[in-house]
Amino acid sequence: MLDGMDANARNEELMAQQEAYRAFQAQNLKLNMARGKPAAAQTDLSRPLLDVLGHDADLAASDGTDCGNYGCLEGIPEARALMGTMLDADPADVIVGGGSSLNLMYDALARHWMFGAHTESGTTAPWSTLDEVKWLCPVPGYDRHFTLLEAFGITMVTMEQDENGPVFDDRIRELVANDPTVKGIWCVPQYSNPTGITYSDEVVAYLASMTCAAEDFRIFWDNAYSVHHLYDDEGKRDHVADIGRACDKAGHPHRFVKFASTSKVTFPGAGISGLASSPENIDWIKARMNAQTIGADKLNQLRHARFLPTPEALDAHMRKHARIIEPKFACVLRILREELDGWGCSWNEPNGGYFICYTGPAGTAKRTVQLAKEGGVVLTQAGATHPHGNDPDDAVIRIAPTLPPLDELEQAMRVFACCAKMAILQR
Ligand SMILES: Cc1ncc(COP(=O)(O)O)c(C=O)c1O
Repeated sequence: MLDGMDANARNEELMAQQEAYRAFQAQNLKLNMARGKPAAAQTDLSRPLLDVLGHDADLAASDGTDCGNYGCLEGIPEARALMGTMLDADPADVIVGGGSSLNLMYDALARHWMFGAHTESGTTAPWSTLDEVKWLCPVPGYDRHFTLLEAFGITMVTMEQDENGPVFDDRIRELVANDPTVKGIWCVPQYSNPTGITYSDEVVAYLASMTCAAEDFRIFWDNAYSVHHLYDDEGKRDHVADIGRACDKAGHPHRFVKFASTSKVTFPGAGISGLASSPENIDWIKARMNAQTIGADKLNQLRHARFLPTPEALDAHMRKHARIIEPKFACVLRILREELDGWGCSWNEPNGGYFICYTGPAGTAKRTVQLAKEGGVVLTQAGATHPHGNDPDDAVIRIAPTLPPLDELEQAMRVFACCAKMAILQR
C-alpha cells in the first residue's frame, strides 16, 4: 500500500521491490504480453475447419456458385450470413473480404481518399484533394487504427473515452458541427481495445444523429469483438446497439461502415472478414472494388461457413474460447488487486474482448514497460494507445492476457506489478 507510507517506508519498499526485481532478472525470463494474440489452445479449436474441405468435397455454395473458380465479388451467401451475424447486419448488406478486417478498413479509407464518398447528393470530392483531413480518435484506442491514419497523413483529433464510449464535449461537438474537414471517427464499440468498454445506447444514438459539417462524415465501426464474450451468463455479456439501424433512424443512412473478422474466432490472418453498410454504400463500394479484384478466397469462405453454419454454432465455439481465456483474465485481475490496490492505479474488468487496460499514476507507464522489458517481460509499448505513440499523461499500459500459458502469465504479472511499484516509488 502506497497510501499512508512516509518517506522512510517508501525507501524500504523500493529496496524490497528492487531485490525482488533482481531475483526475477536472475531467472532470465522470456515472457510476452505485447499483442492480443490467441493462444495455441485457442487456434487448435479450429483445426477441424482444416478438414472441412477434403479433396472430394462438394465445392458448390448454397446458391450453386463454384467456390473453386472465379466470381462472386461480394462473397458466397453462407459466408455473408456468418459475417452478418458478427456485424449485426442483413447479409444482403455485407461484402466478405480476405483474412484481415484491417485490410478492409485500409481499403475503405483509401477509396474515400481516391474517389470521395457516396452521399444523398452524390459522390463527394476525393479526400486527397483537400488541404487537410481530420479524424476523431477516442483514446485509449487501438494502435493500428492510428498507424493507418498516419499513413495517409490524416490529422488525428484525440478525444476522451469513458465507460460509455467517446465523450462529445463542447470542443468536439463544435469541431464536428463546423469543420467540414473532420471526416470520421474510429469506434471499437464493444469490448473496446484496450479499455474493454461497450458503448451505451445513448452514445450510439448520438453518433448516428450528431450534426456534422462534412456530409460524407464516416463512422468506422470496428466491431472486432462482437462475439467475444468471457462469460456464459447472459447478465455478464455486453451487446452494443447497432449503428446501422441508429443511422437509418436518424436520417443519416450512409454515415457508417462496419467491420469484423474471424481473426479471433478461427485463425488470425487466415480467417475471413466482412464489411457492412447501407445498400447504396455497398453498391458504391462494389462498383469500385470491381476494378480491384474478381473476389476474395471463396474456399476459405466455404470452410468457415460449413464449420460455423449457424449463430448457435458460432456462439458454442466462442464459449470454448472463453473457457480458455477467462481464467487468464481472472489471473491478471487477481494479481492487480493483490499487488496494486492502494497504489494510485486503476484498471477495467471487461466482460469480453482481448485486453485489460491499466492506468498508473502519471509519468510511470514508460518506466514500467522499460523495467519489465529488462526483467524479461515484453509489454505493449507505453503510448501505443494514443495517436503518434504519445500518451500525454504517460499512464496507460495495455495488458494482453491471452497468449501466454496461465503459469507464465502469473509470473509475468508478478514482474509487471513489481515494475509498476518501482516506477511509482522512483517517481
Ligand atoms: C479493434 C481491432 N480491430 C482490428 C484488429 C485486427 O483485425 P484483423 O485481424 O481482422 O485485421 C484487431 C486486432 O487486434 C483489433 O483489436
